[in-house]
Amino acid sequence: MNKQVLLSLFLASALVCIFGNDATDDREPPTILVALLVRNKAHTLPMFLSYLDQQDYPKQRIAFWLRSDHNADDSVNVLKQWLDHSAESYHSVNFSFETDEKSYPNESSPYEWSSSRFKNLISLKEEAFGYARDIWADYVFFLDADVMLTSQDTLTKLTQLRLPIVAPMLLSESLYSNFWCGMSEEYYYQRTDEYKEIYHLKKVGSFPVPMVHTAVLVDMNYKGVKSLTFDKSKLQEMQKNRKQEPLFDGPSDDIIVFAISANSSGIPLHICNEITFGYILQPLEPGDSLDNDIQQLVHIRASMITDLGEVPPLHDYYQHLVTKPEKSKLTLDHIFMINLERRPERREKMEKLFDEIGLDVEHFPAVDGKELNVERVKQMGITFMPGYEDPYHHRPMTMGEIGCFLSHYRIWVKMVQEKLKEVLILEDDIRFEPYFRSNAVRVLNQARNVVEYDLIYFGRKRLKEKSEPWVADTDTLVHAGYSYWTLGYVLSYEGALKLLAAKPLEKLIPVDEFLPVMFNRHPNKTWSEAYQKRDLVALSAAPLLLYPVYYTGDFGYISDTEDSQQINVESNEGEARLKSDREQVFLKEVEDSSEQQLKLGESISGTKSHQEL
Ligand SMILES: *[C@@H]1O[C@H](CO)[C@@H](O)[C@H](O)[C@H]1NC(C)=O
Ligand SMILES: *[C@@H]1O[C@H](CO)[C@@H](O)[C@H](O)[C@H]1NC(C)=O
Ligand SMILES: *[C@@H]1O[C@H](CO)[C@@H](O)[C@H](O)[C@H]1NC(C)=O
Ligand SMILES: *[C@@H]1O[C@H](CO)[C@@H](O)[C@H](O)[C@H]1NC(C)=O
Repeated sequence: MNKQVLLSLFLASALVCIFGNDATDDREPPTILVALLVRNKAHTLPMFLSYLDQQDYPKQRIAFWLRSDHNADDSVNVLKQWLDHSAESYHSVNFSFETDEKSYPNESSPYEWSSSRFKNLISLKEEAFGYARDIWADYVFFLDADVMLTSQDTLTKLTQLRLPIVAPMLLSESLYSNFWCGMSEEYYYQRTDEYKEIYHLKKVGSFPVPMVHTAVLVDMNYKGVKSLTFDKSKLQEMQKNRKQEPLFDGPSDDIIVFAISANSSGIPLHICNEITFGYILQPLEPGDSLDNDIQQLVHIRASMITDLGEVPPLHDYYQHLVTKPEKSKLTLDHIFMINLERRPERREKMEKLFDEIGLDVEHFPAVDGKELNVERVKQMGITFMPGYEDPYHHRPMTMGEIGCFLSHYRIWVKMVQEKLKEVLILEDDIRFEPYFRSNAVRVLNQARNVVEYDLIYFGRKRLKEKSEPWVADTDTLVHAGYSYWTLGYVLSYEGALKLLAAKPLEKLIPVDEFLPVMFNRHPNKTWSEAYQKRDLVALSAAPLLLYPVYYTGDFGYISDTEDSQQINVESNEGEARLKSDREQVFLKEVEDSSEQQLKLGESISGTKSHQEL
């Protein structure tokens, strides 16, 4: 071999080193390397991978580094299907699957974090980081398979931020997310008020925080980033060289070490909540089972319908892996949803929701206030409570409120005619709390065991500041005080009889004022005394099981009762007025209840080494 040939061989191998391992690869290096570690995620991978493939970012600029090990489930097959269908459209996929071991030694549960598991995870993350350096990726995106990136703009948005390390804020069924706002001296999660402000979008943007995890984009071109590490001893080494005292003495935990190594290097971590990027499953605890994750998925899919209008579609080849709960009537005779025919979009959305949650619900056409007028109201024999006016707006009843009353009224009549013992009546602008089905059944069973109830609110707005007494021998029920809204309530046959016997159409007030009158908690004595018998036994689920989707004034709010033409009680003449906001007076209370929900969160125990809530 002459010198020239040797030289060109040398040059060729040098080029291979620069442009990647594949000698025939003459493409540019990828912009993003997605580093993906998978263990026992067969149940989340179909959604996770389908949504990743829907990213609006050039696939030829994305490379994958994919490892899966210690699986007791079908994860590897699910990944292989994706490799068959999708790998080619990406820049490259570097993968390796370990199929020998199904669990770590001495592991009592796949949700336990033993030191050998941490060790393996840390060495894999270090390897991925090194690979990103080797292939000259501009970014590495560390991603876990229990993240659902429903926004197609996620990668575009995150790379545009030009931040050294940034995480897309993800929503869960509770307050859990992929960032911390506070870190204790011992490097553990610390509660802060700022956390909730960011999670609830009270402030929007990108914010420096002490910790991001689970979905983290790292800019490899940012000065100093390449020396970051997940490995405790490497971090200590780095600190020693920099004469940074005291050395890190926290746990050998990949995310904590990474966050501290960034901080020691003067590199900030950011969380971004500018768009709804997607959802995250709360990590399971050693005592949990796969069913806990399945339940979380049910709620996350329901949240997608509430927030996005649908569960974004999965790849066809994954469709058969989607399972939905069987439909249930929650041990009741019937569930009705009241819906206006001219609001088919709400019906469609609610039906998708029932489908995901597993509720067997019958559609009940609402009486449309738009089709009522003074003449028709008279013909129906309706007369109003003398001097009725709305306590906040000081205005008489709207046609929408009359239609709403009549809709509920017709269900009460139907219950009596058909002798239905217990019925759940739902409106069509609600969202369900996590574990709605099992919690609803628990509430019902407790109620049946202790009292002959007439009505149980599942959703409402409490109006009195005073606390309401618990129903004895229950831990899910209170005696209802003055409340607004009729979003969802269970009514018994006896309850329906009582409501009809009061002849409410002869002295009409809005249905959510009428109910508190009937259980004698209405503060206005004049109205109350217009009804003689006020012995309805009304309870409320505590915490509540459902909430309205929109609040007055929120984007997207359309109320069919508040917006419609009003009727002037005195002159019985229709009159239009501006919509106002009696709904907003008590908004704060509704928000605060979001923490309460955790109490009913069944076996999700709430604490996790990475974050307590
Ligand atoms: C895949 O990545 C590993 C590093 O994790 C590297 O050693 C190996 O060469 C890569 N394989 C290919 C084909 O690029
Ligand atoms: C597993 O447990 C046994 C007995 O407690 C112990 O001797 C062994 O070192 C453990 N193995 C690992 C890998 O932790
Ligand atoms: C490092 O942590 C300290 C203490 O939490 C904080 O004040 C500082 O801003 C952090 N530095 C960076 C670059 O994030
Ligand atoms: C009760 O309602 C009547 C009729 O709307 C009104 O005149 C009266 O002021 C109200 N009373 C109270 C205590 O709010």
